[in-house]
Amino acid sequence: MTSSNAYLSGLFALDGRVALVTGGSSGIGRAVAGALARAGASVVVVARRERELADTVAELTADGCRAAWVSGDLGSRDGVRAAAEDAVAVFGEPDILVNSAGINLRPPLGELGEDVWDATMAVNLEAPFLLGQRFGPRMAERGFGRIIHISSQQAHRAFVQSGAYGVSKGGLESLARSQAEAWSPYGVTCNTLVPGFVMTPLNARLSADPERVAALAARTMTGRNGVAEDFAGAAVFLASGASAYVTGQSIHVDGGLSVH
Ligand SMILES: NC(=O)c1ccc[n+]([C@@H]2O[C@H](COP(=O)([O-])OP(=O)(O)OC[C@H]3O[C@@H](n4cnc5c(N)ncnc54)[C@H](OP(=O)(O)O)[C@@H]3O)[C@@H](O)[C@H]2O)c1
Repeated sequence: MTSSNAYLSGLFALDGRVALVTGGSSGIGRAVAGALARAGASVVVVARRERELADTVAELTADGCRAAWVSGDLGSRDGVRAAAEDAVAVFGEPDILVNSAGINLRPPLGELGEDVWDATMAVNLEAPFLLGQRFGPRMAERGFGRIIHISSQQAHRAFVQSGAYGVSKGGLESLARSQAEAWSPYGVTCNTLVPGFVMTPLNARLSADPERVAALAARTMTGRNGVAEDFAGAAVFLASGASAYVTGQSIHVDGGLSVH
């Protein structure tokens, strides 16, 4: 190994670590799962649809990575608990937890029923809370852990009907700070990555409108919208030893959208 490779691997390599990535079968979660696995972690991806999960894992194992999938519905407390135990059964307790599973149902607040509110909070906020309660204390006991949430610019401002979605993401960033306060003394950092507009299946409808896409790109500083792979480097950094002194933070990966 060259000296620069040894140095970089000392900072960022995830060999020997176990990661659980919710929503790891699509979009940002899939890119993050791939990044963590290629950086050396054994990765379990959790979502509902088996085909997408199996495709993701096949791609990673073909690349020589250690990866597996668990199908589970994070929309109910029992579903979260079952998925967590199924995931642990594969490679053991996770050192790294990434909460990327999310839904955006988009009705304007005035038309938003309690069903949409409940579904949004369950997947976007309650599942990360429950998984944190399950894994955070054990990470703290072992003296190392990394919890990474994927929130949204809508945690910070209203955007195309933030409705319940923006509320859930605001709560998620607060959750990261509470978790950071609880477990950082024991080597467990908890942070949030904040996307702007990323071309993924989540916003397929908006992405299909070239004028809207161009207008959103123009609002960034880089002149383009995000792609899922933009999250790879930031995720590896937050999952690695290199970020030991970074905790409770919301880190925008958005081409400058939030500050433009
Ligand atoms: N794309 C953007 O512009 C953008 C912007 C800001 C924030 N975000 C956030 O980034 C995260 C990832 O979004 P994305 O754009 O990558 O979306 P995506 O491509 O639609 O991926 C969402 C993932 O969540 C999983 N999921 C959804 N509901 C679930 C449930 N009940 N149980 C288990 N898994 C579930 C999906 O798999 P199944 O459907 O198979 O379950 C899928 O793997 C989300 O939290 C989203 O809010 C995205």
